[in-house]
Amino acid sequence: MENIIEINHLQKSYGKNVVLKDISLQVKPGEVVTIIGASGSGKSTFLRCINLLEQPTGGEIIYNQENVLAAKYNLAKYRTHLGMVFQSFNLFNNMNVLENCMTGQMTVLKRNKEEAQQVALKNLEQVGMSRFIKARPNQLSGGQKQRVAIARALSMNPNVLLFDEPTSALDPEMVGEVLSIMQKLAHTGLTMLVVTHEMGFAKEVSDRVIFMDKGLIAEEGTPEQIFNHPQEARTKEFLGRVLK
Ligand SMILES: Nc1ncnc2c1ncn2[C@@H]1O[C@H](COP(=O)(O)OP(=O)(O)OP(=O)(O)O)[C@@H](O)[C@H]1O
Ligand SMILES: [Mg+2]
Repeated sequence: MENIIEINHLQKSYGKNVVLKDISLQVKPGEVVTIIGASGSGKSTFLRCINLLEQPTGGEIIYNQENVLAAKYNLAKYRTHLGMVFQSFNLFNNMNVLENCMTGQMTVLKRNKEEAQQVALKNLEQVGMSRFIKARPNQLSGGQKQRVAIARALSMNPNVLLFDEPTSALDPEMVGEVLSIMQKLAHTGLTMLVVTHEMGFAKEVSDRVIFMDKGLIAEEGTPEQIFNHPQEARTKEFLGRVLK
């Protein structure tokens, strides 16, 4: 099977600070990849480079066999194929839940109101938020906000969904409801790249685990390989710290 995304020797610097040194990664359609690593290792920067919220300073991003960084590539279209779920939800506070899930569909995908509403309702149902369509984000709990953010991302029918620590801002009792939705989404055909501190999710749900350290992929493998038989001292040290 062809790769949906192929990252070759990706680099990102801010001035003299080299945050991503040389990252290569190939992802198959439908694959669920988790990215773990210490704070500051470059995980968010890596995701933000993939969807071009940050401009890479070197390397290649190949999406469906096409070079995304080529001058004539259709970036607007690329962006509609990728969704992102943030730690801080990033919902539109001046819109209700339903409108949050409709607006991008109408402005970016040019869907009409009826279709956008139908798609939004279906996805809100899937995340268990149908009862809250008239609510404003500030009336919701963190877990509910994140479920709406996931429904909003899904409403754009992305091929790839990027998650940057989607449960890190949540009170502990709300982590489970968001993880269980992500678990339901996994292996439904959607390609998922998930930066997470939830080692249980990485171990139980992902096909592959990427361990990042200081701007490099220090080790990658199946959850079994990374959690039960890590090879690198850095991986062992990190896991020893977070799993205790
Ligand atoms: N816009 C920026 N300008 C300058 N430096 C930045 C910028 N964004 C990130 N960095 C630096 O890049 C490094 C990696 O940051 P990044 O946020 O990618 O790490 P992370 O692995 O996501 O960490 P965390 O687990 O804390 O979220 C950090 O040293 C950070 O200071
Ligand atoms: Mg981060």
